[in-house]
Amino acid sequence: MSAAAVITGLGAALPPDRITNEQLVREGLDTSDAWIRSRTGIRSRYRVRPGTTTGDLAVAAARGALESAGAYDAGLVILATTTPDRRCPATAPELAARLGMTGTPAFDLAAVCSGFVYAAAVASAILMAGAYDSVLLVAAETYSTIVDPCDRETAVIFGDGAGAVYLTRGNRRDPGALVHFDLGSDGTGSDLITIPAGGSGRPYADVLPPRQDRYFRMRGREVYGRAVRQMAASSRTVLDLAGWSTDSVAAFVAHQANQRILDSVADRLGIAADRCHGNLRDVGNTAAASLPLALADTAARDAVPPGARTLLTAFGGGLTWGSVAMTWPRAKPVRHAPEPRPTHKETDSCPPSTTTS
Ligand code: COA
Repeated sequence: MSAAAVITGLGAALPPDRITNEQLVREGLDTSDAWIRSRTGIRSRYRVRPGTTTGDLAVAAARGALESAGAYDAGLVILATTTPDRRCPATAPELAARLGMTGTPAFDLAAVCSGFVYAAAVASAILMAGAYDSVLLVAAETYSTIVDPCDRETAVIFGDGAGAVYLTRGNRRDPGALVHFDLGSDGTGSDLITIPAGGSGRPYADVLPPRQDRYFRMRGREVYGRAVRQMAASSRTVLDLAGWSTDSVAAFVAHQANQRILDSVADRLGIAADRCHGNLRDVGNTAAASLPLALADTAARDAVPPGARTLLTAFGGGLTWGSVAMTWPRAKPVRHAPEPRPTHKETDSCPPSTTTS
């Protein structure tokens, strides 16, 4: 029997504040509920309060995954995020420490919306190499801290949230087995989804003003077409690797970017709507956290039988993409609310204040 990394625990965390489309309009964004619903399929997203960090969401989701797996610790902790608590150091070591795992190796992985798939591939390879017996993989994001509240292309799509899985070494017949991966990137498209300032290419000190260059930017229309083509192509590749036909796939979970994108990808693959799962409508695009949040939400509804063939696919900044052929896990998801830490930080409002520091 071939060995495989197996998901044995599922966790999820969302901030308490649900922001409806109407709320965005009330906050001054030049948009409407009708536009957002018809062009993205999104009705609401969640937003952290000032003082709650990506790390706080990660701790809550990680606790859920540990509880779901009946575990107290893990051999390795990986945090997939593009919104770490600080630029330096990585957030994962503090996450591990807050979970009582001081001394455990822990690192961040940044592949934007493909972060969960990339991290799952890394975790799987590490488990298969025998380096550790278990991996706690957390994907957490607070895009509300990097999105320009006045940018109607991004402010309507993105939301905050975290999902986590607990992985152990098992075999391919186990429910939750990660059977095959396909990963890819195309750095020639690195400007399509970006935060222009704050890295070594343009340190903050060089960009005051314009303040806007500190925000997340996306060339939505260009990303749209590439996301559809690449998620469909990557899905086909991973199904070929696994020797699975699309007809044999019982559950399809695609990175929750925009409902029209998800529908187009499923259409290209010939996967009917009743086999597509997710919660984009309620949570919006939560970047790396999108896939584990969708897995947890679908598992909470018992919508897919354990062991059923499942296809995950994602696309995001980098550009990056990836897909996983897996079987549906048996784990029951556990959801926790984040506990905020006191801080003096204020969130930006629309229009942004003129402060530049
Ligand atoms: N509310 C109202 N109008 C809006 C709007 C909003 N929130 N956002 C854009 N518009 C307007 C545009 O200004 C444009 O107006 P114009 O025709 O007068 O110029 C019109 O709507 C159409 O704009 P367009 O950019 O073609 O819309 P779209 O259908 O492509 O939707 C996105 C925009 C951003 C929702 C869509 O392109 C998208 O989802 N892109 C990919 C996102 C993604 O997958 N991210 C990658 C992974 S993270």
